[in-house]
Amino acid sequence: MSDVLAEFMAQCRARCEASLLAHGGLGARPGQAPPGLAGFEPAVRYALESSGKRIRPCLLYAAAQAVGAGADLDEALDHPACALELIHTYSLIHDDLPAMDDDDLRRGRPTLHRAFDEATAILVGDGLQARAFELLADAPGLSAGQKVTMIKALARAAGLGGMVGGQFVDITSTGHALHLDQLQAMHALKTGALIRAALSLGAIAVGASPSQQAALEDYGDHVGLAFQVVDDILDVEGSTATLGKTGGKDALANKTTYVSLLGLAGARETAEHLLDGALEALEVFGESAEMLRGLARVVVNRRV
Ligand code: IPE
Ligand code: IPE
Ligand code: MG
Ligand code: MG
Ligand code: MG
Repeated sequence: MSDVLAEFMAQCRARCEASLLAHGGLGARPGQAPPGLAGFEPAVRYALESSGKRIRPCLLYAAAQAVGAGADLDEALDHPACALELIHTYSLIHDDLPAMDDDDLRRGRPTLHRAFDEATAILVGDGLQARAFELLADAPGLSAGQKVTMIKALARAAGLGGMVGGQFVDITSTGHALHLDQLQAMHALKTGALIRAALSLGAIAVGASPSQQAALEDYGDHVGLAFQVVDDILDVEGSTATLGKTGGKDALANKTTYVSLLGLAGARETAEHLLDGALEALEVFGESAEMLRGLARVVVNRRV
């Protein structure tokens, strides 16, 4: 990874994490929860302080840069970036629940329902989801029209016909063999939709033209699918210690994955094809899309 990309990603993460702590929880600082909610605050903080890669916010900032937001990260992007990460964090909390993937470890620590309890984990997830939309509605530096368009894009991506729908297919098809096209459709929903939304939100924030927006979403579709293909690979190749979540779970749970259908080499080849497609989608942009190009490579070559 180039120094420029590493610096860009570090800046995006720092911006997103500062927003999460400032706006994601029950009060601006620990101990500032509204009356009666002090007991809820530790669980909400536990979720917000967890150490994700923050790849979706990075993609959002990079999409805006591709369209010409400039090298400095635009403050108007902070609320949308934080909103995306709130939705993603909620999706992981619910994904780990006993009724879903039943996982004990997430981001290197006990899952929220293990550290607290199941009802609390459900409620924290619900609350983070609602907060995401509140943050978009309150986003400084964006017009009312931009905010409504973003709220709709994120709601669609996160909702019944997006991430949640994909999770439904995942859970209900566990134990049944899926064909490759069915698996691809499921991955595109459960993981791809939110990643595409990262690109859409970045594009909307900086007033991208329809053709720029379409190119960014085409890139998002390729990177989103690649992200889950690589997640399937890492579930087999990675160790629990490096992943910060339990490895080997997919085979144990009898899930159809890119690895179960195509083998490790076939899944890796698919990820490389998707990377080529993502880079091709960016041909309409010049230098300004360098961070997006680098991020696509990071997604495909990552070890965690
Ligand atoms: C994991 O997402 C779940 C998937 C959608 C594959 P990430 O790999 O982005 O998880 P964090 O945010 O870094 O923990
Ligand atoms: C999760 O997919 C997708 C979500 C919408 C959260 P996985 O179940 O494969 O994610 P991990 O491997 O638990 O992070
Ligand atoms: Mg899952
Ligand atoms: Mg899971
Ligand atoms: Mg997985």
